[in-house]
Amino acid sequence: MQVFKRHVFVCINRRPARHRRGDCETKGGSDVHRELKNAVARAGLQFEIRINKAGCLDQCSQGPVMVVYPEGVWYVQVGVDDVDEIVNRHLIGGEVVKRLLMTKTDREL
Ligand code: FES
Repeated sequence: MQVFKRHVFVCINRRPARHRRGDCETKGGSDVHRELKNAVARAGLQFEIRINKAGCLDQCSQGPVMVVYPEGVWYVQVGVDDVDEIVNRHLIGGEVVKRLLMTKTDREL
């Protein structure tokens, strides 16, 4: 059963300052989460497109990180300036925003 047309998880994990792995929250994860929620609500799609906070998604060096299901598309180094493009092109239009795609996992870097 599919509850949402798209389900997005945005990492907002925070670690202690100077932690060797860093975190997404320090790089703006919560700002990205908030802007995504606002943009989806402005489009009137909050019941079709769910924006959730996530803990660490294990790609910390590339944060802020988010993943979109059902496609399983990962975006990295996402900023608030990228939100409108992600919402309009991908979450509404179904087109992946290639310039923000994760091309290597943290283990491959
Ligand atoms: S802290 Fe965001 S992926 Fe690990």
